[in-house]
Amino acid sequence: MTNVVFKKVSLLERPEMEDVLLSRQLAINNFTISCKMFVFKQLEEIVATGGMEVYGDSVLIRSVSVPIHLEGRGLGRKMMGELERLARDKKAKAIYAVTDRAESFLEHMGFEAIMPEKVPEYMRSNCNQFNGACPPTATIMRKWLIKPEPVIALFPEDESKQE
Ligand SMILES: CC(C)(COP(=O)(O)OP(=O)(O)OC[C@H]1O[C@@H](n2cnc3c(N)ncnc32)[C@H](O)[C@@H]1OP(=O)(O)O)[C@@H](O)C(=O)NCCC(=O)NCCS
Repeated sequence: MTNVVFKKVSLLERPEMEDVLLSRQLAINNFTISCKMFVFKQLEEIVATGGMEVYGDSVLIRSVSVPIHLEGRGLGRKMMGELERLARDKKAKAIYAVTDRAESFLEHMGFEAIMPEKVPEYMRSNCNQFNGACPPTATIMRKWLIKPEPVIALFPEDESKQE
């Protein structure tokens, strides 16, 4: 799709953005002040939505959606790419998403499902997606932007060999 412009959503554009989210059964009642929302626009039409919340060096990606009549044209991938770029600009080590239906899309975008315990504590306690906004059955997904160093376990010398 050509001539699409990526931008932060304006106050005037918010109702149209919310219409797109609602049309894709995504919530519009759980935006916090820390959530920055973006859209792709083609002429006057919002053709994709996406948001991010920054928690230290972890970023939650949320509300990625494309109007149903525009699916399959690369807009979802394009939105994920822009959000990932912004997360890298913020020096994020990893991006996270919580979903109950887009697991395979996110896997395709390089995410992997993780256990809730793997979510950084600061994000888990401050982000409403982990505190009731998403169903407990939702899948938590993570994509590393900076691969963590492997942990090398240092074992003390075998005691039986010690005097
Ligand atoms: C998920 C969604 C954003 C995808 O948007 P889209 O514009 O249709 O996706 P794209 O055309 O950019 O597809 C990008 C790639 O993902 C793949 N893909 C798209 N939907 C997929 C799905 N449900 N499962 C697996 N792969 C998928 C495409 O085949 C494409 O692959 P390729 O680039 O290697 O050829 C869109 O279907 C949507 O709005 N769904 C409802 C809302 C939702 O569930 N959002 C949560 C997303 S975190």
